[in-house]
Amino acid sequence: MKLEQNHPGGTPVFIDCDRETWNMDPVLLDAELERCAKAGKLPKAVAPTDLYGQCCDYAQIYAVCQRYGVPVVVDAAEAMGGKYFTQRR
Ligand SMILES: Cc1ncc(COP(=O)(O)O)c(C=O)c1O
Repeated sequence: MKLEQNHPGGTPVFIDCDRETWNMDPVLLDAELERCAKAGKLPKAVAPTDLYGQCCDYAQIYAVCQRYGVPVVVDAAEAMGGKYFTQRR
């Protein structure tokens, strides 16, 4: 995983995907961040990855991350040709 290569010592935590889009599920992200917050160990960042030209649900992901004060680092390498609302990436 790229983040692990660039930031050795970090521990990636994976969030399962949405069944329809196969992108990060914001509901599961919320549950994981709540669990982390209760443990007093929020992640340094959340890194959603767009897949097969489909963008993640950034409105939901940003809203969740903002609530916990966790920055979002977007990996849009696979978003080519996709649209987010009306904007082509
Ligand atoms: C999700 C994702 N991120 C990043 C990359 C770019 O990886 P690299 O810099 O190793 O070419 C790819 C390439 O396929 C990718 O699929």
